[in-house]
Amino acid sequence: MSPFTIAIDGPAAAGKGTISKAVAAHFGVAHLDTGLLYRAVGARMLRGDDPIEAARKLEADDLENPDLRTAEVAQAASRVAIIPEVRAALLDFQRAFARRSGGAVLDGRDIGTVICPRAEVKLFVTASAEIRARRRLAELLDHGFDTDFEAVLADVKARDDRDMNRADAPLRPAEDAVTIDTSTLDVDAAIAAAIAAVEARRAG
Ligand code: DC
Repeated sequence: MSPFTIAIDGPAAAGKGTISKAVAAHFGVAHLDTGLLYRAVGARMLRGDDPIEAARKLEADDLENPDLRTAEVAQAASRVAIIPEVRAALLDFQRAFARRSGGAVLDGRDIGTVICPRAEVKLFVTASAEIRARRRLAELLDHGFDTDFEAVLADVKARDDRDMNRADAPLRPAEDAVTIDTSTLDVDAAIAAAIAAVEARRAG
């Protein structure tokens, strides 16, 4: 198979991460969760660092921080993601990753629109806010966090609002993206739909 880039965008907790990992494994290509870059910058901001400086000096080790998955860091990530200088500082790393010779899957918010507008395949993975909050709640309770549906739904909606309404690289589907709504799909069906969409794009 010739090298190709698959861009997977969508709102928080729609299933992008799971789908991206499975698609990358299926096609034998590398995967970058670009949200981790913003989370690493958000985590540094919470520790008192200037977010622009943190983005410019980001190192591989920063992505290993186990705290990056918390709701607090997610909100901080969404806040630093508004800053154009932060986005600019993270651009080259993402584009270089996308050009890897073996092909790559990148998932995030602006991969198909800004980072890789010429990606061979673009998917937009979404689901209703309520379904996303329910899934995220199950995940958090599983990991021992003490929270409830209303709090998680409010978090999801706040992040949607910030991600979709920022001036620089807002979350939206690229014109040529295939949308996959996972609201009524289980994990296996969502992965199968994504793989089928990639194969259809590559065939056509
Ligand atoms: O995918 P995630 O939930 O880990 O992303 C965390 C935040 O980072 C998200 O709310 C917005 C920001 N983000 C972004 O602005 N652009 C990306 N390509 C990926 C994430």
